[in-house]
Amino acid sequence: MTIQQLTSNLPSTDAASATADAPISESVIAQLAAEFFSALPKQNAHGLNLDLPEHAAPSISHPPQPKDPIAALSGRIPAVVQQSSLNPNSTQRLADPTADHPERRILSSSPVIGGAHNPDPSALFNRIHLPSGASEVPQASPTLANDVSGQSAYYFLDIPKPDSLQTSQSGDVLRNPFAFDDYHVVDDHQLQGLLKDRNDKPVTTESGYYFTATPQLDQSQFKRDQDLQIPTTTQNYQPIDILQIRRDFPILQERVNGKQLIWLDNAATTHKPQAVIDRISYFYQHENSNIHRAAHELAARASDAYEHARDVVARFIGSPSAQNIVFVRGTTEGINLIAKSWGKQNIGAGDEIIVSNLEHHANIVPWFQLTKETGAKLRVIPVDDTGQIRIDEFVKLLNPRTKLVAITQVSNALGTVTPTQEIIALAHAAGVRVLIDGAQSVSHMPTNVTALDADFFVFSGHKVFGPTGIGAVYAKSELLDTMPVWEGGGNMIQDVTFENVIYQPAPNKFEAGTGNIADAVGLGAALEYVESIGIHNIARYEHDLLEYGQHALQSVSGLRLIGTALNKASVMSFTLAGYETEEVGKVLNQYGIAVRTGHHCAQPILRRFGVERTVRPSLAFYNTTEEIDLLVSVLHQLRRAKPYKS
Ligand code: ALA
Repeated sequence: MTIQQLTSNLPSTDAASATADAPISESVIAQLAAEFFSALPKQNAHGLNLDLPEHAAPSISHPPQPKDPIAALSGRIPAVVQQSSLNPNSTQRLADPTADHPERRILSSSPVIGGAHNPDPSALFNRIHLPSGASEVPQASPTLANDVSGQSAYYFLDIPKPDSLQTSQSGDVLRNPFAFDDYHVVDDHQLQGLLKDRNDKPVTTESGYYFTATPQLDQSQFKRDQDLQIPTTTQNYQPIDILQIRRDFPILQERVNGKQLIWLDNAATTHKPQAVIDRISYFYQHENSNIHRAAHELAARASDAYEHARDVVARFIGSPSAQNIVFVRGTTEGINLIAKSWGKQNIGAGDEIIVSNLEHHANIVPWFQLTKETGAKLRVIPVDDTGQIRIDEFVKLLNPRTKLVAITQVSNALGTVTPTQEIIALAHAAGVRVLIDGAQSVSHMPTNVTALDADFFVFSGHKVFGPTGIGAVYAKSELLDTMPVWEGGGNMIQDVTFENVIYQPAPNKFEAGTGNIADAVGLGAALEYVESIGIHNIARYEHDLLEYGQHALQSVSGLRLIGTALNKASVMSFTLAGYETEEVGKVLNQYGIAVRTGHHCAQPILRRFGVERTVRPSLAFYNTTEEIDLLVSVLHQLRRAKPYKS
């Protein structure tokens, strides 16, 4: 069939422009595609097979989805879309949010909301007047295992790397808006002011907060929203080649219901790059053995591989030593280990454990169980209406009975990035230990337990592109050394008689029995893979993608984002008026789009927002603006099928 035949039914102006010699315009292609798709049987005018009653199907015509929208990506990265429409406290400003029909953008090379082709590096700079001395902000040195600085490495687009700070001809400091600054930390004066309130307060036996109405406070004292910007460092970033990265994840080529898989369930688990799959396979082909015990070649290989993984975990999270890393099954087991070992040793009747309203059940239930066993109390830091921790209330909860603060770094249900550095500083000033649940943060932002001064840090391998069934606990040496063992068995002892048992030093004393050796090795490979891309680069890309996604979702009427804190990672929980969350999930699944629906094992925080369930798309660095466009496109279709009346 010739171009002329193909275009013979088109309006004459368009048809005339599409000759065999001339390039075919985008509008011609769109019209051809629309005709083709509308002629297909059993599809509505949109080319979408919505599982909706026929009378509910919308009647207006739209261009169809491209067969493989991902192919149109070609190195695009999203531009920053501002949050002012989501959060009135935002200091960021940009254009008004524009309600639109995102499916139109799929065929367009000029997306309406965000989205940009490879950036002109000079366009990445905003003119910001910094206080004097700002140019002395230290440049963090790269933490990559392989030095990729100054070169166009495998994963990086070949554009010049901008300095974090530059000076314009006029002498103004130009600042890269995507370069991260250090976390804001309260200064001594602020800290004392905050703690004074705690010290003046008598110890009470009832919960100071949970189940009570939110007190009205002078928020001007706590400029948290402005301060809680992106997780931050002065390290430069490099745009990452998402298409190249996507090729590393074979499962992303999977087809679901005839569509290419769009994986937006990364908060539940992440996919594994070929490097991890290969590493585990290599282990079983060439190294498989139990560790430590047998003096033969494969035992030595397996032991080396296992201990190398421990080294990588330590490096990845900034632990001073691999001896501070205990392998566990995952975050849940890690928190249980701490509760049943350190917790039982240090928490007794009348003592208090502080968690936040944001916690996953894994960081509630072990502490709840401990309070039931010991007579201790659980106290809860409330969140504001954006889903951010209320530091002012946290300070009031601290008191001399407080023994532990156990808090997530990123909420799995809302995506809130909590101010862990401030929380740790405040808790330590009160002599309180802090456990950070890093399950949802390690894959999205740099982790440095030493800089944070965390007492405990736990995370799961499967949420950071590693295997399931493996995770790690970091604890300070003085804690690990004095904590009692929690499970007994082989591998963790030095000597056993019927009268006495001498344990190995940490970390081995917490690793009874044969561990998940192969998957620990796989976790090491996953973290090395992330290091090869650069967690700072990932954080910056995902930040833009998240803002793009949140902004795009807002174009769907009747969609309520649950969790609009300024500082968020990955998660875009929402409800859609007129639809059960499961209905939305099912329809998305028809398009190969995987999201989690339900309570996300975080019922208290959803109830704080008056809902029992949400639809939860959650991003990783292999996701794209096009995938978000498709998600939003289906939501618009649902909206049109049941128009929203506010
Ligand atoms: N914690 C996982 C989630 O948030 C399972 O989905």
